[in-house]
Amino acid sequence: MNTTPHFVHFRTDGVSFLLETLDAKVPAVVHWGKDLGSISAAEAHVLTEGIKQHRTMNDQDVPPRLDLLATHEGGYQGRFGLVGGRANGAGWTPKFTLTSIDIDGAAASINDELVELEAGTSTFTLADADENLAIKLTVEGFASGIFRARAELTNTGDDSYEVRELGVVFPVPNNATEIMDFAGHWTKERAPQRRDFTVGTHVRENRKGRTGADSAFVLSAGTQGFNFSQGQVWGVHTAFSGNHRMWAERMYTGVKVVGGSELLHPGEAILGPDESYSSPWIFALYGEGQDDQMHRVHRWMRARDAHPQRTRPVTLNVWEAVYFNHDLEKLKALAYEAAELGIERFVLDDGWFGSRRDDFSGLGDWVVSADVWPNGLAPIIEHVNSLGMEFGLWFEPEMVNPDSDVARAHPEWLMAPNTKRLPVEGRHQQVMNLSIPEAYAHVRDQMVAVLRENPNIVYIKWDHNRDIIEGATQATGTAAIHEQTLAAYRLMDELHELFPGLEIEACASGGGRIDLEVLQRTQRVWTSDNIDPFERQQMQRWTTQLVPPEMMGTHVASGHSHSTGRWHSIHFRCATAMWGHMGVEWDLTQATGNEFAELKEWITLHKKHRDLLHTGTVIRMDQHEPTSWIHGVVAQDGSEALFAIHSLGLAETAPIGRFRLRGLEPDALYTLTDVTLGEDPQGYRAPAWAESKTPLVLSGRSLMNAGLHLPGLFPETSRILHLEAHTN
Ligand code: GLA
Repeated sequence: MNTTPHFVHFRTDGVSFLLETLDAKVPAVVHWGKDLGSISAAEAHVLTEGIKQHRTMNDQDVPPRLDLLATHEGGYQGRFGLVGGRANGAGWTPKFTLTSIDIDGAAASINDELVELEAGTSTFTLADADENLAIKLTVEGFASGIFRARAELTNTGDDSYEVRELGVVFPVPNNATEIMDFAGHWTKERAPQRRDFTVGTHVRENRKGRTGADSAFVLSAGTQGFNFSQGQVWGVHTAFSGNHRMWAERMYTGVKVVGGSELLHPGEAILGPDESYSSPWIFALYGEGQDDQMHRVHRWMRARDAHPQRTRPVTLNVWEAVYFNHDLEKLKALAYEAAELGIERFVLDDGWFGSRRDDFSGLGDWVVSADVWPNGLAPIIEHVNSLGMEFGLWFEPEMVNPDSDVARAHPEWLMAPNTKRLPVEGRHQQVMNLSIPEAYAHVRDQMVAVLRENPNIVYIKWDHNRDIIEGATQATGTAAIHEQTLAAYRLMDELHELFPGLEIEACASGGGRIDLEVLQRTQRVWTSDNIDPFERQQMQRWTTQLVPPEMMGTHVASGHSHSTGRWHSIHFRCATAMWGHMGVEWDLTQATGNEFAELKEWITLHKKHRDLLHTGTVIRMDQHEPTSWIHGVVAQDGSEALFAIHSLGLAETAPIGRFRLRGLEPDALYTLTDVTLGEDPQGYRAPAWAESKTPLVLSGRSLMNAGLHLPGLFPETSRILHLEAHTN
């Protein structure tokens, strides 16, 4: 018998998330997707009955029930949400009974058969008295129509209970016939992959100890052919920067789910009496097309108190300009050029500390090097500040070179499977075990000292340059990735508390640590070490699936790409970089006069439209053929928009047809202006509309439904179009 309501119905921004807890069982999702309207408890009962499977031949006598934890007890045979047990294996298939539901912190009344809420938190408390386990399931709905859930298991017994996995699954309807997620590697982050949703499990497991350049990122199931603008999409995201999983599973019964969990190594979550383990937040990201799915995330991110409020300063990062060669005069010259360009933040990258003159030594010694910085960082910071720019500094707090003072003094602080051997090195480095309190305190204190000595450091680029292999505490041999990940979060939180206003950029060999949990502590991500604009077009396109443009680091680098060897014009580099949190990463003293002048104009253009770029709605047009890529940003009130047309190659046919836009106000009349900068690239063939002497004025409806002829563009060139709605 229930002592709580039978249904909790979240309804927010056109999305319903209806949970039933009949017979005091673990909450099960009756519906997640398009809004159902305000349904009665009676209708919820009918729906619950209506979605029950019929028994297949030779099945158990009652239809299997799929709950948020995918418990076996209800007959479900797919991946379980909870995998665990006591030393003898008992307790592996608990039967939880619901004891209470809290809605926004207050106990729900049993008199309410159905609780309907918009944004809010619903906490379900359950226990299995026979197995001495208790579980708390928290489901949160946000105003933007996204949901997240997490489970916290407590061992109420006298002996220990090992959690091997604790995750959450969300059912998706059977018209979700395709799945899409992301692959990738260093310099090629967020490469989309797509396949049919066949019977079996598509599981993405990560054992990198960081989110990973190959992170599944968002794993979506959707209706046939879903794309940016069409179809229904049900996505899952595991918000965790350590080992984790995301999966899509289709059972022989036809049931389909998407799910997520932390990936725990043996021994990482052994619960003593009264101890608890909490899963990461698992996000349920529904959308009518992938743009809508993205917009909901962006709206959620932007609604947070912690969302960056200050205008995003155009940034110079010196890494590809000087690498490890820290020379005050050279850096001052760079800063001078940067200020000339209108750059607002100067970031000193790797190489300022300890014996770090290359990547073989000194990592982990967070003390300003007297060799390269005999007078400390003050001379460069003061110079940068005097030019009107703010100053940022690179750290890699979780890492250490074996050839460093800290590793020599405390070899026991390095992660290793035992005291006899160290894991294989990555970029000549090992991992500092932040789960050891003394090691954590050491790193924190060194960082704090640098930040206190130099109060004008207002920004940290926080790197993590290797996967964690065999991440364990030497003394015990136990895996410590879980603790390590939480310690990194704690360290970020502590620094934010100690230095209000400090901003942190999440970097991990480029875009290897981008997830919705680290994004709660960081104000920017470094999208990729690959700044080649051709590759960046794809990476930025998909990074925005979770990251709003104002948090996505996009730089203009040298014409010769350091990571691909390709050459690109200043025009294409800028037309690519202006769409995020713009920056420059290039030895500006090598720029030609023309490059410098054009770069300056693009930075000015970015700044002119920065408010729009950083608050507007991102629009990605579906590609009808792969060489033309159109995207843009529309002001929330539809009054203004900026779109880019990029040519990524020669189309199979010429001329290549019309383009249409999306997201505009249908009734508004827009003046369309081509604001592309630089000399017209050779090969640009202006369509008739672009040659007209009078400004082009068109309704949003015409632009979205009829469209205009595409300009003929040389490969790797772009046009930038500005649209402004008439006020009368
Ligand atoms: C990583 C980062 C780069 C740079 C180097 C410094 O590769 O992604 O941007 O900071 O480390 O070593």
